[in-house]
Amino acid sequence: MKNKIALVTGGTSGIGLEIAKQLLATGAKIVVNYAHNEKQADIARTELGDCMFVCADISDESAVKNMFNQIKQKYGKLDYLVNNAGTNTDAFIRDFEAAEFQRVVNVNLVGKFLCTKYAIPLLSNGASIVNISSNLGVRPCAESSAYNAAAAGIINFTKSTTLELAGTGIRVNTVSPGFTPTPLSLSGWTTSEIEQKKLSNPMRRNATTTDIANTVLFLLSDKAAFINGQNILVNGGSVMN
Ligand SMILES: NC(=O)c1ccc[n+]([C@@H]2O[C@H](COP(=O)([O-])OP(=O)(O)OC[C@H]3O[C@@H](n4cnc5c(N)ncnc54)[C@H](OP(=O)(O)O)[C@@H]3O)[C@@H](O)[C@H]2O)c1
Repeated sequence: MKNKIALVTGGTSGIGLEIAKQLLATGAKIVVNYAHNEKQADIARTELGDCMFVCADISDESAVKNMFNQIKQKYGKLDYLVNNAGTNTDAFIRDFEAAEFQRVVNVNLVGKFLCTKYAIPLLSNGASIVNISSNLGVRPCAESSAYNAAAAGIINFTKSTTLELAGTGIRVNTVSPGFTPTPLSLSGWTTSEIEQKKLSNPMRRNATTTDIANTVLFLLSDKAAFINGQNILVNGGSVMN
């Protein structure tokens, strides 16, 4: 992946940060996106060194357009797009504020559409997109309907993108992680729920960010040259949400 140009949205924390680290280790040049947390971005800057960082809310079309203009100006092209940035709000449907539901769907699903839309002109034969969805996209849990619906939508959006990019040599796949301890996931589950997830998993552990990043890098690489439109569940074989 030497000298390939990669954009990792939400690359300053958790799964995205690990993907960025692994890409960097292969010799790729990476663009790291985030939207809110400057303190966490500074930590990522220290860990990743001299990369291009772009603060842009992926649910804001003009911010996304501006981010891709910056990438075009600096590199002129893009080889890998990792649509990773995501958010969540825990609420039961009866209590869910419509605006909050829309915010989650806008970041998690519409954000991937916007980044894909503005990436396409920079991508060419051999390029690869990985969309990060979730186990919850196929096995939903209660109190997380916006996140679950967006996750299911991402899996279908990947397949739609694959069809529209037919004949271009650009591949698109989804990676759906099971529970992976990160700032996002740790805020949504109690310690005993997390322990229960471990015990019920056939591998008797939860995923690590390394497990997820390994799969993403494989799908981006030419080793996955005939894998297209797929959803890879990286969940240890769990049949639970
Ligand atoms: N951890 C899990 O168990 C798990 C399981 C299944 C799927 N996933 C998915 O994996 C992805 C990464 O999650 P994570 O657990 O690594 O979360 P995380 O540690 O909280 O990282 C989320 C990243 O997304 C960025 N982000 C959030 N909103 C954004 C926005 N509107 N525009 C641009 N960047 C934004 C954050 O930066 P700022 O805060 O600075 O905006 C941060 O860099 C998400 O799509 C999530 O749904 C996670």
